Amino acid sequence: MIGRWLACALFASALQGVAFDAKTLAHIRQHSPRPPLAADPTNRVADDPRAAALGRRFFFEKRWSKSGEIACATCHDPERGFADGKQVGEGLAKLERNTLSLLDSARQRWFFWDGRADSAWAQAFGPLEHDAEMGSSRVQAIAVVAEDEELRSAYVELFGAMQDVGDVARFPRDAKPSETNATASSAWSSMRADDRAAIDRAASNVAKCLAAYERGLVTGPAPFDRFVEGLADGNTEKLAALSPSAQRGLALFVGKANCRLCHSGPNFSDGEFHSIGVAPLGGGPPRDAGRHTGAKLVRANPFNAASPFSDAPNGPAAERLATLRAGPETWGEFRTPSLRNVARTAPYMHQGQFATLDAVVRFYSTMQGALAPGHHQETVLRPLNLTDDEIADLVAFLGSLGGEDVAEELRRPLDER
Ligand code: HEC
Ligand code: HEC
Repeated sequence: MIGRWLACALFASALQGVAFDAKTLAHIRQHSPRPPLAADPTNRVADDPRAAALGRRFFFEKRWSKSGEIACATCHDPERGFADGKQVGEGLAKLERNTLSLLDSARQRWFFWDGRADSAWAQAFGPLEHDAEMGSSRVQAIAVVAEDEELRSAYVELFGAMQDVGDVARFPRDAKPSETNATASSAWSSMRADDRAAIDRAASNVAKCLAAYERGLVTGPAPFDRFVEGLADGNTEKLAALSPSAQRGLALFVGKANCRLCHSGPNFSDGEFHSIGVAPLGGGPPRDAGRHTGAKLVRANPFNAASPFSDAPNGPAAERLATLRAGPETWGEFRTPSLRNVARTAPYMHQGQFATLDAVVRFYSTMQGALAPGHHQETVLRPLNLTDDEIADLVAFLGSLGGEDVAEELRRPLDER
């Protein structure tokens, strides 16, 4: 035992690696390994491979969009870490926020930058119906499934009979609940209540298939995970997974720079919401209420974990809804992003305000351009005044959090070989 730690220490010094003290080691171990993906009892097909295969079809489905040209994969591009590389998402028009990567997204507690959904399936029809994203409607989406023999039979196998939506007067294709589109909204309210309920039921089933596909978008161990294994077993090859610079960055991350305060645990996120004062794109006063609105939306979301569409309406996810914070201090808060795979998904922050990880770390170092916190808000962040070397070390460490990419076949449509 002593020999092993000695060898390890000698190895570390040979590479000018870092000799971590016991407290630092304990902090490091909180970030790795990742536990197995938790079950999602709100979605009874979450782990059904047939649902994942159908969800994969839906994910690349362009017939769902108003233009016939946009699929989920347009913005969540498998070759860009299931994001788009843009500051803000762009579908039929420009959006207000940066596209979130779907890599390992099944590990989130709250979904979206403002946490307005409490499961991956609760809001899948959000982008589909959003006028600036895919501009479609849930009726149109269900019609595509119902009228495609293959999709329909895969659906029926999982969920049983499907509503016949052939009568377009009874099921107007553009019908959807909408606050911005009066025609769509009146078409929706003109429908029979039981028809609306049947569409919503089918829409939630389709969304659960999308979520089942997304659960498969998991990355393998990152160099950081191998390094942490090396710290435990002294294996020199594993310890070499982090360069000396990345090791110093790790020490800063869990130590002096205190990034672990919010980017905690194996996901490098506390799953909660904070304001770190990043100014809005294009300047001016902040306009995005973030969590303040998100907390209200998730409670009101007709597809939330406590809703009749949930397969566990009394489960822990439903209980969480009752206890969430929505006070004035949540104005302008955004979800702490996971830092796993972060080097793959530039630009950064909720509007892609920073082009590189170097720019992000420089922001934390100087807090230059940061918005002054409102009087209700936390003031955790102080300029860290890092040296250029320390900045480079933190960036090197962040680069070590990229896991092995998801299985190749999940990165392309089912029928493309
Ligand atoms: C026009 C671009 C665009 C399209 C098309 C699009 N998305 Fe998104 N997606 C975004 C943006 C932007 C966000 C972040 C929005 C926010 O947080 O307010 C996002 C966030 C998400 C999230 C939340 C991830 C997380 O970590 O919380 C999921 C899940 C998701 N999208 C799934 C889908 C699915 C499924 C489809 C297809 C039905 C889809 N998206 C289509 C741009 C898009
Ligand atoms: C007070 C909590 C908190 C602390 C401490 C903190 N962060 Fe963050 N971090 C956040 C939040 C919240 C965001 C998203 C903010 C936004 O979009 O406006 C974020 C965003 C980021 C991003 C962008 C990720 C992406 O995908 O867009 C990186 C990288 C990052 N932080 C790294 C760090 C590092 C490195 C440190 C330590 C120097 C640190 N953070 C300290 C809460 C924190």
